[in-house]
Amino acid sequence: MKKLLLIHGPNLNLLGKRDSQHYGTQSLADLEAKCTEKAKELGFELVAFQSNHEGELIDFIQANKASGILINPGALSHYSYALHDALLDTQLPCIEVHLSDISNRESWRKKSVTAPACLTQISGKGAEGYLEALELFTRPINAVIGNPLEKSWSPKLHNSAYKELGIKAVLVKMENENIQVLVDRIRHQNIALTAVTMPHKENIISLLDEVDPLAKEIGAVNTVINKDGQLYGYNTDIIGIEAALLDLDLKGKKVLIIGAGGAAKAVAHVLKAKGSEIFILNRTPHKAAALAQKYGAKVVDKIPKNIDHIINATPQEMDCTFDLNYHRNQRGLKMFVIQGLEQARLWTGKSLDPVKYLNELK
Ligand code: DQA
Repeated sequence: MKKLLLIHGPNLNLLGKRDSQHYGTQSLADLEAKCTEKAKELGFELVAFQSNHEGELIDFIQANKASGILINPGALSHYSYALHDALLDTQLPCIEVHLSDISNRESWRKKSVTAPACLTQISGKGAEGYLEALELFTRPINAVIGNPLEKSWSPKLHNSAYKELGIKAVLVKMENENIQVLVDRIRHQNIALTAVTMPHKENIISLLDEVDPLAKEIGAVNTVINKDGQLYGYNTDIIGIEAALLDLDLKGKKVLIIGAGGAAKAVAHVLKAKGSEIFILNRTPHKAAALAQKYGAKVVDKIPKNIDHIINATPQEMDCTFDLNYHRNQRGLKMFVIQGLEQARLWTGKSLDPVKYLNELK
């Protein structure tokens, strides 16, 4: 039987007596019993532990072999790098849970320094969040990686697609500034499909085993497929961008790309094939120059006169023809859905009709 550790940090021994508005009225013993019952139902043995001391939590993590860890570190989440390292060093799938929604409380509480050591974080769902986390341990996990991921809709899109395909997998957010940690996790925890977003589309390339020739040429990977431990990189942004621009005649048109990161590189590639006259505006001029040189584009430091179209590949908000930020632009949304369904197709071999997803996310 697979063993899971259920760990609670400081002050959580007082559940039921402390701040019921945020943490509910049940005691820690009730919560542990509920989790033990659920774990049993799912075929896991659960070993529970609580301590008010950082060192004791770390000793417990180091001393106990298990298949996974479910942890609510309490306030240690917000400052314990030692606990982060202890979790990371296990190389186990860890899931961080908070009873309250830490993203909607005091500013110091919004950030968790322990979450980057975990597969994902579930916050604000009370005891239900623990049951959801236990269930995650029974399912194949896919991920979207990047930093920050607050606004990513990849879980929505993929999880809806997996439902349509009748697949038990779930895609979760794995937020981390360290690409090496993320790639190690993809390997150790056998993550089959990874969607890659800012700022990792370019720096992930050298860490993969093989990269599709098109992705290599563009210099950006937005999809990693793990085939028996070998990591293959692809770029599905390209077909998303092509679909988003399909109704426009861009031949000979003056098109300004704002940005020069991984997404902008894919845009430049598509525009070059369409015969556009490309201009690039970017905060860091040397990145713009490198991209411009590759695609015969001009670097500019402000929006040129007589420009036909602007394509925004930065997080900044602006008036444009095509904004790669899919929350505020129809073409952006089209690109997002098409690139995401292509990621699912690379993994499952099955194509899905984008219309349903465009309507769902609109
Ligand atoms: C908590 C949130 C923490 O900020 C707080 O210090 C806790 C509980 C939660 O479960 O919501 O002790 O982890």
